[in-house]
Amino acid sequence: MPDITLTVNGAPRRAEAEDRTLLVEFLRRQLGLRGTHAGCDTAQCGACTVLLDGRAVKSCIVLAAAAEGAEVETVEGLSRDRAAPHPVLQAFEAFHRRPCGFCAPGMIMAAVDMIRRHGEALDTATVRHELEGNLCRCAGYHDIIRAILAAAPTRRPEGRRPRERNATDAADKLRPRPDHGRGPGAVRDG
Ligand code: FES
Repeated sequence: MPDITLTVNGAPRRAEAEDRTLLVEFLRRQLGLRGTHAGCDTAQCGACTVLLDGRAVKSCIVLAAAAEGAEVETVEGLSRDRAAPHPVLQAFEAFHRRPCGFCAPGMIMAAVDMIRRHGEALDTATVRHELEGNLCRCAGYHDIIRAILAAAPTRRPEGRRPRERNATDAADKLRPRPDHGRGPGAVRDG
């Protein structure tokens, strides 16, 4: 079997893979990154979303061989700095505390991608449109959209000094509803 060499979450990785191995399988089995989930295997659900050279892709329809030499970011990469997890991760923890969490890694990576591309222009309608390829089967989208908007940079009046902003700031303003004992945070290994 040929080796695949790529960069995953900032670190060089190398492992064997058959020509037909899908990127989602390669990440989960060969590299042990089980945060990326496989749901439908048909590009419908978005659970397998990762960033490939900076853009969100469904890794169930990308061959691992096609990622040779590429940079891949998975949900694990967002918590490399345990003292300061990525703002999107914090926002999902604050607003999307639902029992399942299966869709969350894909939603989170899609959110990172859309925030990078849209920045301050990101609004509710855009988030809804961008999430068309990511399905949540148990909790609905309201809190997911709130989380993404909370993690996005905000528009500010001309001339005002930008301020470091993260999801903790947003959580102070937009108090999440009590979870009524629905259980732990959104992201789970699976
Ligand atoms: Fe890839 Fe569902 S597993 S889109």
